[in-house]
Amino acid sequence: MACLHRRLRLLLVGIVFCGVLLLRVDAAGAASEAGALLAAKAALSDPAGALSRWRARSSGWFCRWPHVSCAWNSISTAAVAGLDLSGLSLGGGFPVALCTLRSLRDLNLSSNEFVGPLPACLASLPALARLDLSSNSFSGEVPVAYGGGFPSLAVLNLAQNFISGAFPGFLANITALQELLLAYNSFSPSPLPDNLGDLSALRVLFLASCSLNGHIPASIGKLKNLVNLDLSTNKLSGEIPTSIGNLSSLVQLELYTNQLSGRIPAGFGGLEKLRFMDMSSNHLSGEIPEDVFTAPSLESVHLFVNNLTGRLPATLVKAPNLVELMIFTNQIEGPFPPEFGKNCPLVVLDSSDNRMSGPIPATLCASGKLEQLMLLDNKFEDAIPAELGKCRSLARVRLQNNRLSGPVPPEFWALPGVYLLELGGNALSGNVDAAIGGASNLSRLVLSENRFTGVLPTELGNLTNMKFFLASNNSFYGTMPPSLTNLSELLRLDLSNNSLSGEIPHNMGQLEKLELLDLSNNHLNGSIPAELLGLTGLGALDLSYNELSGELHVLRQNTALNDLNLSYNKLTGTVPFFFNIIQYQNSFLGNPGLCYGLCSSHGNSSSNRHARMLMFASIIAVSAVVMLMSVFWFTYNYRSYKRRAAEVESENSSWVITAFHKVEFSERDIVNSLTEDNVIGEGGAGKVYKAVVSPKGGTLAVKKLWPNGTESKRIDTFESEVATLSRIRHKNIVKLFCCLTNDVSRLLVYEFMPNGSLGDLLHSAKAAILDWPMRYKIAVNAAEGLCYLHHDCVPAIIHRDVKSNNILLDDDFSAKVADFGVARPIRDRPAAMSVIAGSCGYIAPEYAYTLYVTEKSDVYSFGVVILELVTGMSPMAPEIAGKDLVEWACTNVEQSGPESVLDQKLAAQFQDEMCKVLNIALLCVKKFPNHRPSMRCVVKMLLEIKGEYKPKACKVAEAPPS
Ligand SMILES: *[C@@H]1O[C@H](CO)[C@@H](O)[C@H](O)[C@H]1NC(C)=O
Ligand SMILES: *[C@@H]1O[C@H](CO)[C@@H](O)[C@H](O)[C@H]1NC(C)=O
Ligand SMILES: *[C@@H]1O[C@H](CO)[C@@H](O)[C@H](O)[C@H]1NC(C)=O
Ligand SMILES: *[C@@H]1O[C@H](CO)[C@@H](O)[C@H](O)[C@H]1NC(C)=O
Repeated sequence: MACLHRRLRLLLVGIVFCGVLLLRVDAAGAASEAGALLAAKAALSDPAGALSRWRARSSGWFCRWPHVSCAWNSISTAAVAGLDLSGLSLGGGFPVALCTLRSLRDLNLSSNEFVGPLPACLASLPALARLDLSSNSFSGEVPVAYGGGFPSLAVLNLAQNFISGAFPGFLANITALQELLLAYNSFSPSPLPDNLGDLSALRVLFLASCSLNGHIPASIGKLKNLVNLDLSTNKLSGEIPTSIGNLSSLVQLELYTNQLSGRIPAGFGGLEKLRFMDMSSNHLSGEIPEDVFTAPSLESVHLFVNNLTGRLPATLVKAPNLVELMIFTNQIEGPFPPEFGKNCPLVVLDSSDNRMSGPIPATLCASGKLEQLMLLDNKFEDAIPAELGKCRSLARVRLQNNRLSGPVPPEFWALPGVYLLELGGNALSGNVDAAIGGASNLSRLVLSENRFTGVLPTELGNLTNMKFFLASNNSFYGTMPPSLTNLSELLRLDLSNNSLSGEIPHNMGQLEKLELLDLSNNHLNGSIPAELLGLTGLGALDLSYNELSGELHVLRQNTALNDLNLSYNKLTGTVPFFFNIIQYQNSFLGNPGLCYGLCSSHGNSSSNRHARMLMFASIIAVSAVVMLMSVFWFTYNYRSYKRRAAEVESENSSWVITAFHKVEFSERDIVNSLTEDNVIGEGGAGKVYKAVVSPKGGTLAVKKLWPNGTESKRIDTFESEVATLSRIRHKNIVKLFCCLTNDVSRLLVYEFMPNGSLGDLLHSAKAAILDWPMRYKIAVNAAEGLCYLHHDCVPAIIHRDVKSNNILLDDDFSAKVADFGVARPIRDRPAAMSVIAGSCGYIAPEYAYTLYVTEKSDVYSFGVVILELVTGMSPMAPEIAGKDLVEWACTNVEQSGPESVLDQKLAAQFQDEMCKVLNIALLCVKKFPNHRPSMRCVVKMLLEIKGEYKPKACKVAEAPPS
């Protein structure tokens, strides 16, 4: 017992002694390691204070500082072995003090804002094994020292910077490398080095978007350990070397968006581990080799947008793990091999835009996993197989423009997950089955140009998500089901060229979102429902060639209605005077009983007399209306005058003015201008007035916030807006001169932006003013404004409501970011927001699963604004077919090339530049915040477009799934 006790005591003394020794011996080494860290900290900018706990005399010891990890070099010395400073918003040049940390093994500075040259001194660190400098703004060439140094380097990641110069082939000297990532840099066009094959340990080679040209060297086949090879989005040409078939460890092969030509080599079948293969958007020709689909692990094959010909190999049926086959836009012919789908868990099949024929295989959904079936624009024939009616996983079905015939299987109508069902342009027949009421997700149903017949089932009214129902050019008969008026999301309804009869359902007014209604060429009778024209969004109404009767006086004025066609019906009476304009001159033809214009040019005398009486009556009516309106106008103005006068009287003395800039006007100037005539806008937070306070003060914009408390729903934004804007000074941020408050009202006085908001201008008839150079300038200006908020304000500011309506235009169309009502400074990041701010169509997807937002959410919204500038399209435009602008653009870029989304009015002259800006937009709207560039990077990329003339292929970095 005593013995044990003594031993314990000895042990204890030993431990304490060792500890003392350790602390004493370590002191010198520790001081230099800590000193290096502190010197590094002092050299960089740390706006978020991420390194604030690195302090000379902090209670802990540097090994316990955040982001630092240590290793014991001997029993007594600890040294910095790992430094993970990724994603901390650090900036400035590379802190060279880090190069004195001789034991450093792992250095991660990714996703920061570092600028300037890459540090050469890192190459001499003897232990450095993993170096990650990706997603920064490093520039200049890769130091030559990197080719002769790095004795232990296994991972080198320099991706997503602005590194320039020729491609650094000498990195192939770092023979221990296992991962080399240089993607997304600004290298000058250069070929891949031949000696790349010497990196025999290489597992990951990520060289996407590195301006590579020339051939893929055959020596690449020597990389037996290569797991991931990504050479996408370059200008590589020539054939794909056969030696790729030797890469026995390969899992992922990305060669998409290059200029590769010739045939796809045989030999992939031997790649036991290959799962993902993407050679899309090249110039590949010939047949798909037999053995591709025998690679046993193959999951995803993307060969779309090439020049492939011939038939699909029979081996396709044997691929046991195939999930995705995308071969659209080629010249592939012949049928799918029989039983395709039987042996694999197929989820996505897109062979659109080929020359394929034969039946749709009944086995496509044998595994019950098929979600996307896209076969449009081919020559597929025969009936839709009944087996597909059991495929409850289906979500997107696009079969239009084929030669399909026969009735649609009843169960196929009722698939609960399908939201897109496009069957137009075939020879399908039979009825729409009542079972369709079960297709509760259906949002787009296209049946046009087929041979469908029968009565439209009442159950269509169950499909409350429906936005597009297009069924023209069929043989539907019977009445329109009144239940159609339940489809409150409906944007377009086209039942033209059928044999429908009976009356147009009443309650059409319930279709509040309706933009287009085409019922022309049917046998509809009865009167036109009055409320139809009350639909404020209705832009096109075609009821021509029916048997509609009744008088038109029920029609109301509808300013949205651009296309109105009521011709060739049996309408009577007089055309209301507001339709008596040239725009509608052909809208009423072929209605013999209808009187249009002055009603006196022809016809017999009795109808003339009738017409004259009508005209007399309408003159009286008009005069009465005018008189009533004058009385109303007078009363209204007198009241508001009195109210204003009262306000001014009672409040004049009590205004408190807080100025942020020198002001040359009095509060009376401002208050007097708050009249209804001066209103230039109204938003969620208040009304905006224009105030002219010359001579010195010039023109101002005054935002009057809704009174506190009275309307609880209005967002109260005064304090955040003042707090934010008062400390900002930047040429691309709208200037806040002062604010005025009293007990009742709160006013914000800004500089006046004579050309209004970008959104208003771009999406109006005046859009033509904005040529491409102006749009480019607006993009750069707004980007610079946001960049300032994100990167130069401390703490950084997230705007949270970036949209084209919040970008205002000066008299020379310089753009400024405005409306900081929901902006927040972020002190701790990321910032948790209690409510979702932002506007529909601009909200980043991460809002859907988290309320934590970062600057990258603004980047997303800004991406939408660039898309608007490039496409000319509004995020709410009807053309985008119920999608959002982002989805619309991505889908079209993928399927029809980037040129297809450009604003056609400008594309002829500026296509190259517009494509480049489009690419930037598509980076900004990436789904995952981390994949989006920072605003600083966006500004740089935008400026680079003009900086040097490098004609580039108009291609997008990554093809998003359709
Ligand atoms: C660096 O950090 C980022 C973000 O935490 C991480 O994704 C990446 O894998 C790290 N790099 C290395 C080489 O470990
Ligand atoms: C790369 O290695 C070769 C041969 O060992 C050598 O001649 C060359 O100088 C090295 N390149 C660099 C940049 O150090
Ligand atoms: C496909 O081939 C045709 C003729 O051989 C050629 O005109 C066309 O440009 C090629 N398309 C692509 C995408 O390579
Ligand atoms: C349509 O909706 C009604 C009531 O909402 C429901 O009873 C009926 O089963 C639905 N029809 C179909 C075919 O799902």
